Amino acid sequence: MNWLKKLFWYCLLIEGFIIVNGSKKFPGTFKIGVGTSAYQVEGGWNADGKGESWWDYALNTQCNTADCGNGNVAGDNYHKYKEDIAIMKDLNAGFYRFSISWSRILPTGFANETNQAGIDYYLDLLKTLKENNIDAAVTLYHWDLPQNLAQYGGWLNEQTAEWFGEYARVAFELFGDYVKYWLTINEPHVFCLGGYGSYHGMGFMCPGETDENATKIYQCSKVALLAHATAYHIYDTEFRAKQGGKVTLVTDSSWYEPISNDTKDLEAWDRELQFQLGWFAHPVYLGNWPQVMIERIAERSKGEGFAQSRLPELSQEEIDFINGTFDFFALNTYSSTLIGWADDSPISQPSYDLDTNVYATSDPSWTFAEVGYVVSWPLGIRKLVKWINDQYNPGEIFITENGWTSGDYLNDTDRITYQTSYLENVLDAVLIDNVPVTHYTVWSLIDTFEWGSGYTVKFGMVQIDFESDNKTRTYKDSANWFKKVATERCVGC
Ligand code: NOJ
Repeated sequence: MNWLKKLFWYCLLIEGFIIVNGSKKFPGTFKIGVGTSAYQVEGGWNADGKGESWWDYALNTQCNTADCGNGNVAGDNYHKYKEDIAIMKDLNAGFYRFSISWSRILPTGFANETNQAGIDYYLDLLKTLKENNIDAAVTLYHWDLPQNLAQYGGWLNEQTAEWFGEYARVAFELFGDYVKYWLTINEPHVFCLGGYGSYHGMGFMCPGETDENATKIYQCSKVALLAHATAYHIYDTEFRAKQGGKVTLVTDSSWYEPISNDTKDLEAWDRELQFQLGWFAHPVYLGNWPQVMIERIAERSKGEGFAQSRLPELSQEEIDFINGTFDFFALNTYSSTLIGWADDSPISQPSYDLDTNVYATSDPSWTFAEVGYVVSWPLGIRKLVKWINDQYNPGEIFITENGWTSGDYLNDTDRITYQTSYLENVLDAVLIDNVPVTHYTVWSLIDTFEWGSGYTVKFGMVQIDFESDNKTRTYKDSANWFKKVATERCVGC
């Protein structure tokens, strides 16, 4: 047989395992599930002894969102979690990713005072999930810092890392028997840039500080990494042996596609990935900040007249403390961006964008959501998980968020098209590229409070009538799509 024929038969064989009449089957134990976060769905913002988070505080004192909405009631999941679990059961979701509201169980943020009603709520939620055979993946921090801790400087104060560790210990102790996957901190990249710098796209983020010197964003990233590592070590030394769960940080990234194969474009492309994803992943998976960040920010800081780099240096002890604090890779991803070279202008103004300095654009053939900000290029997710696996070799990748923004309608074929093509590409990554993705989370189960966009943007597969007293839930077409895919363990069948 000549080599061309061999290649043909080889391809046919490989494809035969994966594709059944154009559809793709889930391999082995691959699971799909759904996600939400506390402030976005729970409501009950001051119910039964819950303390205020900084989002409760900010949005009850000012209009900071597109529609002046807030999370006071949202989907009222605090009262309707059993109904939501029944929906998950009906949809055949393999797991539920949700977050604990820190100030619901520790009203002041400190571990000296607990709120029993909040603890009971999460315990019953976890027990009900278990009874329904739905695994729990639990986020400890999805952006809702107890307002009481904001007065100490929030994520700029290194003591916050200690307080977060104490909170994590309480959560592990109370809930750890029910949790296999712990997610310490959600998307520090977004809340450091959004909360302390000027991040384009998400609108207001707590605490809403500006950063003329482009230093707070980097300090925030250091404190978030120390907090994550503190929680990881607590789990590792005090709980792992008896609870046997896994812990990691949630990293977010778009896929960045180089605009050409020109050396300069490729250099810019790599730099973008390092500044976005490597910023948080490199310290955890390889140790220390990415070299390109260390060098560029030091050089620019010097040119701007700073005595030291705006990116805080990590001591060897800190590097060792953060390095290796993962049991798997958790990834949130939605969109793709094209990246090319941009010439540096003379050093003047400190800024994260100038620290990165790339040309960013989109390919006109990609699909843009009509409402919201997701840009669909399905191959991007396959390339991204492969890049992550090649760079960090984490052993396991859990896609903790992937979803589509839309307006408020039930026949959401646009969402189905997006989720189908993204899931297909994830399966290609697993079956063809050998990337160990084990879980895929659709964001989100129900319509949520979408941060700076308020309620103007929908992510849910289940619609919520936010005007109704009952916060009525209605399946969108995508919920039926999910049910079919999860039940048949096959996409496109
Ligand atoms: C990232 C965040 O984790 C989540 O809270 C948000 O709703 C989605 N992405 C969509 O913007």
